[in-house]
Amino acid sequence: MKRKELAKIIEQIAPLKLQAPWDNCGFNISLHDDIKKILVSLDLSEGILSEAASLGCDTVVTHHPVLFHQMKTVDIGHPIHKLVLKTVNLGLNVYCAHTSFDSSPSGTDAVLADILGIRNPEVLIREQSSPVFRFEIRNDPSNYDKIIGIAGTEIIDRSGDTIVFTHHDNSIVSQVFSGSTILSMKLENKYQSYGIGMIGDFEADPSSAVKTVKEKLGIDHVITNRAEPTVRRAACIGGSGGSYIKEAHEAGADLLITGEAKYNDYLDSESMGMMLIVTGHFDSEKAFIGTMVRHLQKNTCMIESIEGVYASRNISAPYKYM
Ligand SMILES: [Fe+2]
Repeated sequence: MKRKELAKIIEQIAPLKLQAPWDNCGFNISLHDDIKKILVSLDLSEGILSEAASLGCDTVVTHHPVLFHQMKTVDIGHPIHKLVLKTVNLGLNVYCAHTSFDSSPSGTDAVLADILGIRNPEVLIREQSSPVFRFEIRNDPSNYDKIIGIAGTEIIDRSGDTIVFTHHDNSIVSQVFSGSTILSMKLENKYQSYGIGMIGDFEADPSSAVKTVKEKLGIDHVITNRAEPTVRRAACIGGSGGSYIKEAHEAGADLLITGEAKYNDYLDSESMGMMLIVTGHFDSEKAFIGTMVRHLQKNTCMIESIEGVYASRNISAPYKYM
């Protein structure tokens, strides 16, 4: 598989157009074009590099970017430069799907809402929305799994040689379904939204909300504020979402669950009568690994040159509770 093909598959669930202007999603390190074994992790670290090398991987897919700042000099004494040099020595490509994944309808916050059991979730802070098209296509049935994999969508109906599916890009047919007969293509009466955070129904009292969050994320500790509302609506934002308390409050949330918050976020949420549960950055985002591995395995299983997609076993938060 070529780098371009891997990027295309990743970008089905982490479109580059969704990344924040300050971010650096995509291939941070490109060293070769033939990809056979992929390791998925949250970060790049010396431990991840050793794991990739021991598995014989040639490419690492991470959530957090390796390179944020322009490198004007290369200094082995700088921890990031040292890490990049070691990555180059091992011959590893590195692709990073950060805010491109955070803002995706199948990304960080949607996955977190699903894990936490937030029902009827909607995007909290809408940044973009795309129309959804409904297609009915006729083709050789043996081609469907492959072309649906490339299109990055799910079949919603299938009978004989005809399939029905939805997609936000109406040029998808000419891109991947050449040779197909288009039976119908119409704009569905809905739009798919992208943005920061999710909000939905989540009924709990403060102590049961804490219990649920700990159980669902498999953690022993959270930090909460002093407000104790009856919770009916909860918002969640993976990573550093404490600064979005005002938006969550205005959207009707009684509770914001996020990975990180500042001192003032606890005070502000208390003054709004809103509960804040802070899980730790790592635990709010660790589901990236399983989500990306399942997506890559599903979409590369038909590609002969791919020998394996692995979830890192060497992951832990870069901080600990004592
Ligand atoms: Fe993060």
